[in-house]
Amino acid sequence: RPTPMIDPFGRGIDYLRVSVTDRCDFRCVYCMAENMTFLPKKDLLTLEELDRLCSAFIDKGVKKLRLTGGEPLVRKDVMTLFRSLSRHLETGALDELTVTTNGSQLAKYSTELAALGVKRINVSLDTLNPTLFRTITRWGDLNDVLGGIDAALAAGIHVKINAVALKGVNEAEIEDLIVWAHGKGMDISFIEVMPLGDIEPSRLDQYLPLSMVRARLMDRWTLAESDHRTGGPARYVTVNETGGRIGFITPMTHNFCESCNRVRVTCTGTLFMCLGQEDAADLRSPLRASEANDLIYAAIDRAIARKPKGHDFIIDRRTKRPSVTRHMSMTGG
Ligand code: GTP
Ligand code: 5AD
Ligand code: SF4
Repeated sequence: RPTPMIDPFGRGIDYLRVSVTDRCDFRCVYCMAENMTFLPKKDLLTLEELDRLCSAFIDKGVKKLRLTGGEPLVRKDVMTLFRSLSRHLETGALDELTVTTNGSQLAKYSTELAALGVKRINVSLDTLNPTLFRTITRWGDLNDVLGGIDAALAAGIHVKINAVALKGVNEAEIEDLIVWAHGKGMDISFIEVMPLGDIEPSRLDQYLPLSMVRARLMDRWTLAESDHRTGGPARYVTVNETGGRIGFITPMTHNFCESCNRVRVTCTGTLFMCLGQEDAADLRSPLRASEANDLIYAAIDRAIARKPKGHDFIIDRRTKRPSVTRHMSMTGG
């Protein structure tokens, strides 16, 4: 059996995030540039190759597998991949197969996702205001997403909402989002916006520290620290009045890197050891070089051995450019 993945800081890696496409039907302002150049289709790993790569990681101890994008559900025939990966749930090799989605395709896919054993998904939604939704996503239609969320809930899938907290944009709506989500039995996580990619300098002004949000929420509600954990970076509180949970994802104000358990693979088979660093390893060559997985395992081991201690989202004071120039849509967050 291949050896488990343990990095130089003693952190065990059991969570893999796989970006199955860099494309998306939306263009969220904090994620993509207005005009994006996407990878040529010929550079993508096939669904069979993605399955083989994921399975190699499962051999290496991955228990939690999340498909991301871009928007994962716009990848052609993506359900073929879910279908084949779900065998690892049946054997017990995998604890969780899940997806982070913008929700636009959920009306179409929820029933099958639920049937395949997808129990819990994360849906990104920053506002319930249709006009603001269009401003943030540039291309998105709020009704598609709301319909998608209802379809997922109706299929029995637990939905967690992810909202990026943006100063002066959805800042005033945070309480409304919580009331709405909790009213539908959904947890909701807020995320500090991270400076990645070719973002406009104005984006930097939208950063809203979640410590401020939390203080504000405490004026209205009683928040109780929760030991609920989902394997990701969110730390949760329970709202006594609603019974629902709020997650805080605070890459900028609080470092959760000490307990990092995850790595990311892109749709071209590039392994990123950290979301906030540029260092990466090529897994496509070892994947294509041989039918056996030994070369892949060895390449993974070499990469894990240089997993950095943490991210450093630095913004160059002079150029106002972020240290990580790759867009969020490459690695799916
Ligand atoms: P759960 O399984 O529900 O815990 O999901 P998750 O938080 O692991 O995944 P999701 O795709 O919902 O990600 C939510 C946000 O957390 C996104 O903005 C991600 O970019 C961010 N995130 C997840 N992992 C990391 C990480 O290792 N570092 C940083 N900086 N952000 C992360
Ligand atoms: N900062 C923080 N979160 C981001 N997301 C996309 N771009 C950014 C960013 N720059 C979020 C999406 C989605 C998750 C995968 O990452 O809203 O919920
Ligand atoms: Fe698409 Fe998600 Fe990026 Fe928005 S944040 S553009 S929905 S991948």
